[in-house]
Amino acid sequence: MIEIANPEEMQETIIGLKKSGKRIGVVPTMGYLHEGHRALIRDARKENELVVLTIFVNPAQFGQGEDFDRYPRDIERDRQAAIDEQVDYIFHPSIGDMYPEGYATYVDVENITETLEGEWRPGHFRGVTTIVLKLFQITQPDNAYFGQKDAQQLMVIKKMVSDLHIPVKIKRVPTVREKDGLALSSRNVYLSPGERQQAAVLYRALQRAEVDIRRGERSRDIIVGMIRDMIKAVGNISIDYVEIVDPVTFRKVQFLENNREHCIALAVRIGKVRLIDNIFV
Ligand code: PAF
Repeated sequence: MIEIANPEEMQETIIGLKKSGKRIGVVPTMGYLHEGHRALIRDARKENELVVLTIFVNPAQFGQGEDFDRYPRDIERDRQAAIDEQVDYIFHPSIGDMYPEGYATYVDVENITETLEGEWRPGHFRGVTTIVLKLFQITQPDNAYFGQKDAQQLMVIKKMVSDLHIPVKIKRVPTVREKDGLALSSRNVYLSPGERQQAAVLYRALQRAEVDIRRGERSRDIIVGMIRDMIKAVGNISIDYVEIVDPVTFRKVQFLENNREHCIALAVRIGKVRLIDNIFV
């Protein structure tokens, strides 16, 4: 495994490798790798001759007062995970190399970024699309792998790729969960044992919503109300949002239509930790 920090060196290396016709799969991450990231890497490994893992905690996608400084980092552990999963290249740039003095170019995807995470974290998706486009320019992948846990992020990136004619296939990888259903996230490490137990209610509530929908419930207010009640009953969890949206546009839905997919998405704060989750129904 080769580790590269310099963007120009990474790009030149990739340009050289592409001449041999090898397919390149990129897995963009902010590090502190867990089983969810490993699932992305494994898919990339299966479908490409070369796998590039990017590790960069991107300041542009964190708002004021968010957890950029506290975001967990452990490059030694990540290196080992990358070796275990047979990654070929780690791209691990510095903030100064990605956003040098005078940096001025950002990517804004409209409409789809206005609800849910976009509403609660203004500027977040602008930071995500900017860094992802930069990573695509540097690593020039054939395929790029993103987790369904960040469902809105995935659709925002798909929209950017389609609108800007970027020659990369975006691959969606299912959410990996703990035994009790909690979606894996690098931030889970900051949950106290008590909070960790409480967090299991999120997936329980989403599953209950799925059952209610299968039994015929179609009202957004009733489904969302039930999820909110289940979460509130656990105590100490503050809810940013629970919403039902169209899984492509991320527009809010008031009544679920038969024979159409919907995404139920939520974001909560447990203590100092913000968690998101979703299911497609
Ligand atoms: O999902 C993440 O870890 C980040 O948002 C991403 C896609 C690596 C961009 O910084």
